[in-house]
Amino acid sequence: MPTPQRTILVTSALPYANGSIHLGHMLEYIQTDIWVRFQKQSGHRCIYVCADDAHGTAIMLRAESLGITPEALIADVKAEHESDFRDFLIGFDHYSSTHSDANRHYSELIYRRVRDAGGIAVRTISQLFDPEKQLFLADRYVKGECPKCGAADQYGDNCEACGATYEARELKNPKSTLSGAEPILKDSEHLFFELGQHSEFLKEWTRSGRLQPEVANKLNEWIEGEGGLKSWDISRDAPYFGFEVPDHPGTYFYVWLDAPIGYMGAFQEWCDKNGFNFDSVWHADSEAEVYHFIGKDIVNFHCLFWPAMLNQAGFRTPTGVNVHGFVTVDGRKMSKSRGTFIKARTYLDALNPEYLRYYFATKLSARVEDIDLSLEDFVQKVNSDLVGKWVNIASRTAGFIHKRFDGRLADSLAHPALIEAIRGRADSIRHAYEEREFGKAMRDIMALADDTNAWIAETAPWQLAKADETLDEAHRVCTTALNAFRLLSLYLAPVMPQLASKVVSFLNVQSLDYDTLDDVLLGHAIAPFEPLVTRIEMSQVQAMIQPDEAQSEASDTESAEAAVEPIAPECSIDDFLAVDLRVARITEATAVEGADKLLRLTLDLGGETRQVFSGIKAAYAPEDLKGRLTVMIANLAPRKMKFGVSEGMVLAAGPGGSDIYLLSPDSGAIPGQRIR
Ligand code: 2FM
Ligand code: ZN
Repeated sequence: MPTPQRTILVTSALPYANGSIHLGHMLEYIQTDIWVRFQKQSGHRCIYVCADDAHGTAIMLRAESLGITPEALIADVKAEHESDFRDFLIGFDHYSSTHSDANRHYSELIYRRVRDAGGIAVRTISQLFDPEKQLFLADRYVKGECPKCGAADQYGDNCEACGATYEARELKNPKSTLSGAEPILKDSEHLFFELGQHSEFLKEWTRSGRLQPEVANKLNEWIEGEGGLKSWDISRDAPYFGFEVPDHPGTYFYVWLDAPIGYMGAFQEWCDKNGFNFDSVWHADSEAEVYHFIGKDIVNFHCLFWPAMLNQAGFRTPTGVNVHGFVTVDGRKMSKSRGTFIKARTYLDALNPEYLRYYFATKLSARVEDIDLSLEDFVQKVNSDLVGKWVNIASRTAGFIHKRFDGRLADSLAHPALIEAIRGRADSIRHAYEEREFGKAMRDIMALADDTNAWIAETAPWQLAKADETLDEAHRVCTTALNAFRLLSLYLAPVMPQLASKVVSFLNVQSLDYDTLDDVLLGHAIAPFEPLVTRIEMSQVQAMIQPDEAQSEASDTESAEAAVEPIAPECSIDDFLAVDLRVARITEATAVEGADKLLRLTLDLGGETRQVFSGIKAAYAPEDLKGRLTVMIANLAPRKMKFGVSEGMVLAAGPGGSDIYLLSPDSGAIPGQRIR
């Protein structure tokens, strides 16, 4: 029985209109696109919309520095983004911008409804103001001395040296990073969304099965945390590139207010083009489904502010918010100086987008885990799975159909049970796609490809084709293999849509949608086989890793400086022995909320456990540190930091930022062993 058609609106996070798309972004668009293509292949009405996130101070300042209008800047960036997405085969039904009439309409509408329901407070606040630029300064535009430890050159929100967090106006000797001027304090009226009014609603909403359990748990820590949910400042003062608040001239909606509303704006434009009723999806009792795919860094915007505002404004809330982790490259955070901050276009210039789509699919699950793009594993998986398993089935059998049978398949199968077995996995593979367990789906599909290849090798059609009396059997074997290939291609189609459409042409079929699942190609003419995928070499992948010139010049200088950095004055053996260095195992590594640079490490010293805060967050994903050995100073005096006491220090080389290299002993070392 066919399942009834669902109506599903799907979004990916809106990329900022001030920079290029990189592979970290692409993970999300690929994940969403696979899910959307799967829904369409299953016959559902699935609409995938997205837009550039075009507002904010950063975009305004960038346009100014380029000597162009913000409108011109966002138009250029949008064109670049759209071409990157198209070439990565991301099949948006509509791609818009948050700087649109439709988005202005819904931003004003939601604001008015929330305001009229008593959800907005107006308060005067005092902020740092650049008297030269005539601009209120966000934290990242102010630097000064840390109010706690006095370290110079610290940003307005936290100190890289001691980890303290503070208000920008607490900085000593603050300077505007825009003009160098000393900021003054200035008052202005701001609008606040009273999130605290929605605690009960959010407690229930976040536990209603719409979120991954780890996300729901994190949100509940915030909802139930000390002081409850804080009001959210939804306005910014002029000059600002955005939408002016209707009843507050000179005040603009904060970019994060109108960004998620941009999902509605984009959908409205799609509705206008397609004669579809917007309200049938967004009214409060709609049975249509709405899913947002996002990264783990923007959960609060999508799972607190957004549902609370929608609810107060009388709209439906999302059916689900699907959160993914970040991309690491070879186990480390993407880094410009290492060249692993790979732009979408850099990848596209070197390699086929479907290789990365497949690789990401093999790694994706429904959990909020970081995804490691291991470059060797990538090459190996493409060559072994796509070339060696899947396409191999067609490339080793299609030739006979043309050479010996005039391009026509046999009238019966040599091994109907094999085809039944492959078809029999459809429900489980579809379930995995639906649940975003793409890695599981890929493993199941490749296991079926293995079975098919093993059977082909066993029956050896190339031998059967040598003798007249077994020629018909060879025909049936190749026909069976190509039917297996059709089913596997159908299963893989959401991941590799361009290859799937080449398979459609090669097999001379209408589509690879699920309504063709039961088809068997018999007595059917196929087109000549053209190679679908070719092996890749590690050198092609290496060519893509181009360290950023400016950044690597900086780090080359740094390493040159490091090389000539004078050796410290002589110390005695006793001085050295006064430092107690130990082998330690990292048993836990977690990000520290409110600290950009720090990880909290739990270290096992062979019986004793220590907590150490280390400024290595830019270089390492916490998951990749868990379990590894390192070296620590075990007798360093404990230091009290904002986030807790740091009981020692781990040793690392490198200039800082993402260029940090933790020391590890050779294998065999045991936690707690002293290092001399
Ligand atoms: O984090 C970001 O890149 C934002 N531009 C995402 C916005 S998603 C949505 F809310 F618009
Ligand atoms: Zn400090």
